[in-house]
Amino acid sequence: MLTEVTAVRYVTPLREGGSLPGLVETDDGRGTYATYVMKFTGAGQGRKTLVAEVICGQLARRLGLRVPGLTGIRLDPVLGLGEPDQEVQQLLKSSGGLNLGMEYLPGALGFDPLAFVVDPLEAGRVIWFDALINNVDRSWRNPNLLVRHGDVWLIDHGASMIWHHNWPTAPTAAARPYDATDHVLAPYGPDIAAAAAELAPRVTKELLAEVTADVPDAWLAGEAGFDSADAVRRAYADALLPRAESIHERITLEGAAK
Ligand SMILES: Nc1ncnc2c1ncn2[C@@H]1O[C@H](COP(=O)(O)OP(=O)(O)O)[C@@H](O)[C@H]1O
Ligand SMILES: [Mg+2]
Repeated sequence: MLTEVTAVRYVTPLREGGSLPGLVETDDGRGTYATYVMKFTGAGQGRKTLVAEVICGQLARRLGLRVPGLTGIRLDPVLGLGEPDQEVQQLLKSSGGLNLGMEYLPGALGFDPLAFVVDPLEAGRVIWFDALINNVDRSWRNPNLLVRHGDVWLIDHGASMIWHHNWPTAPTAAARPYDATDHVLAPYGPDIAAAAAELAPRVTKELLAEVTADVPDAWLAGEAGFDSADAVRRAYADALLPRAESIHERITLEGAAK
């Protein structure tokens, strides 16, 4: 279960990508205010983006990769009333209830492939992980990596696990190879074999049950073809478990150039 806090003030939109996440101030009900990057259930991409953020974010953390902490954020759509920006107002109005929050990393800069060096082991871990979740959103055009104090942080896992858009074909889709040619870390000599040897054995049925349990029921309810939220959770785990075993054999890196 994710912790839950309440949004008390919308601060500003983060306009880099397409989903219009925003900075919000939150109250945990015990007197602690904090700033989070909030991703909205009412955003165009829909709640599956948030499901992917939770499963992949929690999985990455459990595998020792750096990802911002996650929390649920309750939103009263009334917060949108005072917003001058129409688009933001609409987003807040359509996102009442539970949304996703990510620990805000103050001072973090976007990853610049020309200015930063990543060692082959770390590059291998990130690419192996992205292959596991089929993340198509870590290219040199759009790295979705932040750098702070010389450390690389992974953000934005909303566009992964494409198979969850069509469950009947999910086993076939999850067996497909991963094309890392465009991956922002492809030019750093990623040691995929070392990453697979280190990380694949850690992706167990038990770990996947734990990370899928963190997805709020409300984002899984009513999924066509499933009779419970837990059945959807099992479908996510069933797609990832076999992929973890062998995806390292199906990662394309050829043609990668800095
Ligand atoms: N945890 C964070 N801490 C600091 N800045 C962040 C954080 N998460 C996102 N950002 C900033 O917001 C931008 C958009 O966030 P992202 O998760 O990539 O959403 P999207 O691409 O869907 O709009 C990022 O490129 C980054 O500049
Ligand atoms: Mg992004």
